Amino acid sequence: MADATGNIAAKDYGFDTPQKNTVYELKGANNYDWGMKDRLSRVFDQKSGKTVMLAFDHGYIMGPTSGLERIDLTITPLLEYADCLMCARGILRTVIPPTFNKPISLRCSAGSTILTELNDECVGVEVEDAIRLNATMMATMCAIGGKYEALTIRNLCKMIETGLRYGIPTLGVNAVGKELVRDARYLAMGARVIAENGAQVVKTYYCEEDFEKVTAACPVPIVIAGGKKLPELDALNMAYKAIDQGAMGVDMGRNIFQAEDPIAMIQAVRSVVHENATPDSAFQMYNDLKAAN
Ligand code: 5RP
Repeated sequence: MADATGNIAAKDYGFDTPQKNTVYELKGANNYDWGMKDRLSRVFDQKSGKTVMLAFDHGYIMGPTSGLERIDLTITPLLEYADCLMCARGILRTVIPPTFNKPISLRCSAGSTILTELNDECVGVEVEDAIRLNATMMATMCAIGGKYEALTIRNLCKMIETGLRYGIPTLGVNAVGKELVRDARYLAMGARVIAENGAQVVKTYYCEEDFEKVTAACPVPIVIAGGKKLPELDALNMAYKAIDQGAMGVDMGRNIFQAEDPIAMIQAVRSVVHENATPDSAFQMYNDLKAAN
């Protein structure tokens, strides 16, 4: 135990070496507080700066969809290949092993299902429970341009306020309604509105034309949702183009867990996101891994 006598006198002051300030390179994040940066640095890989988030929160609005009937059987084998999990607290508590020890983006908004009207939501998980679950990020739906726009933006702001209080980043998810056109103009507006309200990360869909305008005009990292299941090569193509045009990762669900070989698919997606593999070489990797399984 330290005491007042017999201590070695301090002498190594490094007078010739000024203390360096570190810069946190993640887009828009340099002025955040330490805890916020620490959490984000667990989501976005230190080396590539990117992330492969595995989304399987779909059940909170659609029940047991294909590939998520038994998350213990279908998702657990994928955990080791994900940088971050996006899920709801019911599944986290009941199925995901607490020894998993990787970042969690916790779905914290709730309210309606596909049987009624989507996006009529509230903040369904309070920050205390997010902390109890050791969540790294809190996620909320934002219906920009939709019937519940004002309500979901209020939810977003509430989550950002509590997140800032505790150093937990908020992921704003633009839930694009069926009536809206998913073009760059709309997606750029949605992402920008979510970021201007203070979200530290934005999740949005990819669009074929001018996606670089969506990422350029958003001051925080964008991760793309995969959307409906596509042929594997098309999904890899989409991930490649999104990253090439400034996305900082994917938050992908169905195109991974509904793939013919989900374990091979998540590894192929990783190669695109973290190693800039071309879609063709990632697809080759997918087929090789699939053949070997
Ligand atoms: C569902 C979500 C999902 O997390 C999101 O849509 C990502 O999944 P997918 O790649 O299947 O679109 O927000 O509510």
